[in-house]
Amino acid sequence: MKTIGILLSGRGSNFEAIAKNVASGEIPNARIVIVISNRADAGGIETARRLGLEALVIPSKGKVREDHDREVAAALQRHNVDLVCLAGYMRLLSPWFVRQFPHRILNIHPSLLPAFPGLEAQEQAFAYGVKVTGCTVHFVDEELDHGPIIVQKAIPVLDTDDEKSLAARILEQEHIAYSEAINLVLNREFRIVGRRFFGAGNELTK
Ligand code: GRF
Repeated sequence: MKTIGILLSGRGSNFEAIAKNVASGEIPNARIVIVISNRADAGGIETARRLGLEALVIPSKGKVREDHDREVAAALQRHNVDLVCLAGYMRLLSPWFVRQFPHRILNIHPSLLPAFPGLEAQEQAFAYGVKVTGCTVHFVDEELDHGPIIVQKAIPVLDTDDEKSLAARILEQEHIAYSEAINLVLNREFRIVGRRFFGAGNELTK
């Protein structure tokens, strides 16, 4: 059985989708062992408690980044976490934290990276006028929204879209993409060549 730790700061819909897929067996052989928020008011913490999962608030406000990261890492390690999933975790991780979990931290970002990294990616894409956007699940490295890409889902930007409808359709894809990526890294063999990720079903041909 593989163990997942979730880090979040807000409503937690990606976390909830992952939890549902773990419970239904869509993500087999896995268990969410801890949900950690850096904010006490995160909706995701309530959801975790409702689902009977262990939920922990480790406030980040006013703390030196690495000090906070050390508390979070200690909690994850106490729970023997195999994979750390950032699900709307609105805090940059220190290089120290990233080094504790090599190729074991995933993030989801609501654009087709490397386009529109950073905050409000859906609004950035909408304002730029792209015709296609989507979401990306990637490994976390020491740079923001940057590590090797595991799964991307693309959707068209419709003439009838506004920022809200676009973000909602991206979110639907996020909820699918994150579980796919977790399955690829948690229960299967994978390789990373340069920045390129090769999981089962996406093998190098030579
Ligand atoms: C999502 O759009 C995710 O891509 C981004 O933050 C948002 C979190 O939403 N990193 P939720 O808390 O999972 O509902």
